[in-house]
Amino acid sequence: IRTAAVIPAAGRGVRLGPGAPKALRALGGTPMLVHAVRAMAASRAVSLVVVVAPPDGAPEVRHLLDEHPLGDRTDLVVVPGGATRQESVRLGLAALPEAIDVVLVHDAARPLVPVDTVDAVIAAVRAGAPAVVPALPLADTVKQVAPQPQGTPEPVVGTPERALLRAVQTPQGFDRETLLKAHDTVVEGEGATDDAGLVERLGQPVVVVPGHEEAFKVTRPLDLVLAEAVLARRRA
Ligand code: C5P
Repeated sequence: IRTAAVIPAAGRGVRLGPGAPKALRALGGTPMLVHAVRAMAASRAVSLVVVVAPPDGAPEVRHLLDEHPLGDRTDLVVVPGGATRQESVRLGLAALPEAIDVVLVHDAARPLVPVDTVDAVIAAVRAGAPAVVPALPLADTVKQVAPQPQGTPEPVVGTPERALLRAVQTPQGFDRETLLKAHDTVVEGEGATDDAGLVERLGQPVVVVPGHEEAFKVTRPLDLVLAEAVLARRRA
């Protein structure tokens, strides 16, 4: 069984504030994308990493990654991405060689996921689950609201039972055929915000394994502060 990781890294990351594309922001002096690639290559099971670059940025991303070599165990491919995350993942999947039968999809925006989490996802796919997501219980209570025009307070319409909710991370792991079928079948814009959501729409089972605090997504400026602190603690 051979495993590859696809890393969509084509987003601009506007919520982080002005500056370089999110994946190229430095963390501890090294671009976030390099951390994410290393986090996948850290698993002995991962033999190939496919990085999906901004549509016009593949040569630059290739150059950047060549400056941070991975070692002999892991091959690296860089392909140009698309206008949406779903399209970027689809373009990454199209670059997979035949021999791959387990696929991870990992956000560049989760640079610090520990290798034990990566390995747990792979192990669950190898044990027979077509789709696996790492996830954590929620600290916050979640409310459903009825969206209103800006400035108008939103009425609460419901409170899902917190104990039944999970916050989902990446890498998400898939049987290759299942993920390809999901991407071929589910139409863009139907509201899936992750790859497992596409598989759910096919009616295929998705299972959860324990996620990790350090697999958090770097989205807002405060997340960069936290990521720097996690790195500093690892290096201490
Ligand atoms: O914006 P968000 O944090 O949800 O993006 C999740 C991941 O999807 C990021 O790694 C981002 O680079 C990637 N993405 C992409 N292509 C897009 C939009 C986002 O690869 N067009």
